[in-house]
Amino acid sequence: MKADVFTLFPQWFEWFRTQRHVENAVRLGSRIDTIDFRQSTPLKWGQVDDTPFGGGAGMVLRVDAMEAALRERYGVDPVQLRTQRRVIALTPAGRLLDDALASELAGEEELTLLCGRYEGFDERILEHFVSDQVSIGRYVLAGGELAAMVVLDTVLRKLPGVLGDDASAVEESFSEALDGAPEYPHYTRPAEWRGWAVPEVLLSGHHARVDEWRREQSRRRAGGPLP
Ligand code: 6GU
Repeated sequence: MKADVFTLFPQWFEWFRTQRHVENAVRLGSRIDTIDFRQSTPLKWGQVDDTPFGGGAGMVLRVDAMEAALRERYGVDPVQLRTQRRVIALTPAGRLLDDALASELAGEEELTLLCGRYEGFDERILEHFVSDQVSIGRYVLAGGELAAMVVLDTVLRKLPGVLGDDASAVEESFSEALDGAPEYPHYTRPAEWRGWAVPEVLLSGHHARVDEWRREQSRRRAGGPLP
């Protein structure tokens, strides 16, 4: 996975890169590059935003500043770029990120993530330069950076070899393996604490019964029908 993150705050991603699973992904050949689009703006004084036409609060990211940054990075018209790779704008009104979208994105060789700030993107950026708009929930963040890290976190951990045990990312909450249901409960030692006992079946060593119990618990948590 080669991810390019366009942001006015590249230093935020330095911390992100130190996470164990992100380090693993990078060691296995993934990259997370940050592009500070203030550096490539054609406007004076590093300007990248402007006041909204029609009035109103806040500032809007300019289409010319975003175009310049994308052209400099990829050497093509951004209108073409989005037919060649996923160009994702992080925006609160976008498609809600879920496990299925994370898996879909994990299948891409390359991703471009655009982090908005202020009131958001000039609509022409969304209309002409991006292939996807993604949101991490129905609330508003001050910028797309945290959302981009959430997207990358969930995508990178799905790549082969990134988690210590590849099975961890297969049978987990909301995965296809569990029919989209939340994961079953986990227990570890001690087997009893303050009278709180671990379910007997998990100590039985009986794999088929353990499997059956976990699936039932997962379905129960989903609130779905129990067979
Ligand atoms: Cl992707 N961006 C911003 N600014 N706020 C959000 C979001 C994204 N997802 C939820 N809230």
